[in-house]
Amino acid sequence: MTPLGPELLAHESDTVDDDGAFARAMLAGLAGRLRRLPCKFFYDEAGSALFDRICELPEYYPTRTELAILAAHAPAMADRIGPAAEIVEFGAGSGKKIRLLLAALERPVAYLPIDISGPHLLAASADLAKLYPNLCIEPIVADYTRPFGLPPMKPAARRRAGFFPGSTIGNFAPAEATRFLRQARGLLVGGGLLIGVDLVKDPAILHAAYNDAAGVTAAFNRNVLVRANAELGADFRPERFAHYAHYNPAAQRIEMHLVSLEKQNVSLLGRCFEFAEGEAIHTEDSYKHTKLGFATLAATAGFRADAVWSDSNGHFAVFWLEAA
Ligand code: AVJ
Repeated sequence: MTPLGPELLAHESDTVDDDGAFARAMLAGLAGRLRRLPCKFFYDEAGSALFDRICELPEYYPTRTELAILAAHAPAMADRIGPAAEIVEFGAGSGKKIRLLLAALERPVAYLPIDISGPHLLAASADLAKLYPNLCIEPIVADYTRPFGLPPMKPAARRRAGFFPGSTIGNFAPAEATRFLRQARGLLVGGGLLIGVDLVKDPAILHAAYNDAAGVTAAFNRNVLVRANAELGADFRPERFAHYAHYNPAAQRIEMHLVSLEKQNVSLLGRCFEFAEGEAIHTEDSYKHTKLGFATLAATAGFRADAVWSDSNGHFAVFWLEAA
């Protein structure tokens, strides 16, 4: 990695507490009768690599669909954002998406990517800095699912625009999504938010996307157990847990579970957890929205959906939300 200038030193937020947070989440998540783990713990190095592979799968339509929407409509999106903007990205991905946006923007002033993973964030920021030497890049290490602050807007910036691609908003239940959008609205100080949203569709398409033939999603799901073994000294046998993903139409979400294939005991941090045969750990929810439903949700958080771009199949949408 190239050495980072002072402008690339990440702001360390006090809300980030890596090891301890995973241990606490595992203990709390396995203690109850209904076992569940927050999906953010999927993304260690191996999990992030598996997720990158998911994005390339033939069945996993969201990534390539959103990229095509961004590629086709970046000029219109840049128009909505306006000149001399400060872009705040929630989660730093591969950098592909932000590059499409930056290329269309008129004189962007600053780019503030927020990510829970410091090393990932700094590497991505250093890559981008080579392409945009005049852009002020300020990575922020923070967990954006929790309250955090941002440095004040640059004097040269006209306004802030948030960028939240990937349909990551789908991991939030409606009440959490509202809470997240309210926090984002505050951080954006009167600006707008460009956000990718996965739409409701034929459940067969959703089912295929989360049950790929190559088994990458299954490995991604089980990786949280592999991670617990490596980081917390647990003794999960990941292959004795089945990957189970299905669409719950009443809740409008894909649910992912790990289902114990037999009665088994797992020890973790000095505690023993018993799994009955068929007992599951609920590992992820991925909510799908209608265009109208999402606009309504955004409105409850003080945003007005001013524009929406979609693919011709109506599989995915990118919304421009303006602070109302
Ligand atoms: C990163 C939350 C958008 O919900 O589709 C992909 C994560 N999980 N395959 C999604 C995921 C299983 C993904 N998001």
